Amino acid sequence: MTAKRTKLGLVGARGYVGRELMRLVGGHPGLELNFASSRELAGQPVAEYVPGADPELHFENLGVDEVAQREVDVCVLALPNGLSDDYVAKLDDGKTIVIDLSGDHRFSDDWHYGLPELTRDQQQDRHWISNPGCYATAMQLALAPLADFLDEPPHCFGVSGYSGAGTKPSKKNDAAVLADNLLPYQPIGHLHEREVSHRLGTEVRFFPHVAEFFRGISMTVTMTLAKSMMHGDIRMMYQRCYANEPLIRITDETPLVAGAAGKHHATVGGWQLSADGRRLVVFATLDNLLKGAATQAIQNINLACGQRELEGLSDELSMEQ
Ligand SMILES: NC(=O)c1ccc[n+]([C@@H]2O[C@H](COP(=O)([O-])OP(=O)(O)OC[C@H]3O[C@@H](n4cnc5c(N)ncnc54)[C@H](OP(=O)(O)O)[C@@H]3O)[C@@H](O)[C@H]2O)c1
Repeated sequence: MTAKRTKLGLVGARGYVGRELMRLVGGHPGLELNFASSRELAGQPVAEYVPGADPELHFENLGVDEVAQREVDVCVLALPNGLSDDYVAKLDDGKTIVIDLSGDHRFSDDWHYGLPELTRDQQQDRHWISNPGCYATAMQLALAPLADFLDEPPHCFGVSGYSGAGTKPSKKNDAAVLADNLLPYQPIGHLHEREVSHRLGTEVRFFPHVAEFFRGISMTVTMTLAKSMMHGDIRMMYQRCYANEPLIRITDETPLVAGAAGKHHATVGGWQLSADGRRLVVFATLDNLLKGAATQAIQNINLACGQRELEGLSDELSMEQ
């Protein structure tokens, strides 16, 4: 007898995150894609965009009511910010698990904030799960082990590949603007600056940039420590924090963003400490579409459905660009 698979519906399937998620769902033994909603691709076979997908499955343009009527076990919203509430209101039946990849619910106590390595102990029986932002994941993983030892707001210099800006044309994903270039934007009050400050309970300063490469985030975090520390002690704190976390790798070398592309895991380390032991720089890299989005969503779905957290997240990933 084959085990019953969890039925998953996806709204926002055409986007970079939606596609990545469909690919992971396709390789997951316990999940089955029930619908993929996109206005632009409606009628086209999903398999044209996601190799290996069920040849019978076609993109559909589903309204809010139609999404609710499909009665899936898990509904993933991979929509731009500001659009999720109508869907959530219709899916509020006490059993459908809703994963919101947008920033709409990252500040709400009604939602579980799903960054499993830091919050899985609060996940139990939560149906509404807000997936963290991609830069916000990198910043929190870099900061969490030392969050209680900060003297001043840390400074986070982030560079993302242009897939972080989504598919809607803008300066941030315009090949002509990005060619041989680096684009700084919103250095004050970025959503992820507020998100990390809120979640860690300590203010951060965040300086986002977009570069010419497609996927990946390089985050350089500078902290002033409340007391002088030794390099070895700092390293040990990170090791302890992430000792049992297969998706967080610790390194003495400065991690490089090209090594993050197409990988499920984030890498943290490369610590550089000033002579007085107070000024620390730590680096983090991850793939914005994977650990920054789809991989983390699969972890959250697995946890919410009582499956093994890393089910379906094998290392054999092809880069899809
Ligand atoms: N890109 C990243 O690295 C990343 C990482 C973490 C989180 N996120 C978040 O994840 C979400 C999706 O990001 P993305 O990069 O995949 O965005 P995207 O490439 O711009 O895709 C947006 C998706 O939403 C659909 N959509 C747009 N406007 C809509 C509307 N008014 N009604 C219904 N559907 C609409 C689009 O499909 P149709 O137009 O065909 O309907 C498309 O499938 C965003 O909230 C983003 O902030 C993104």
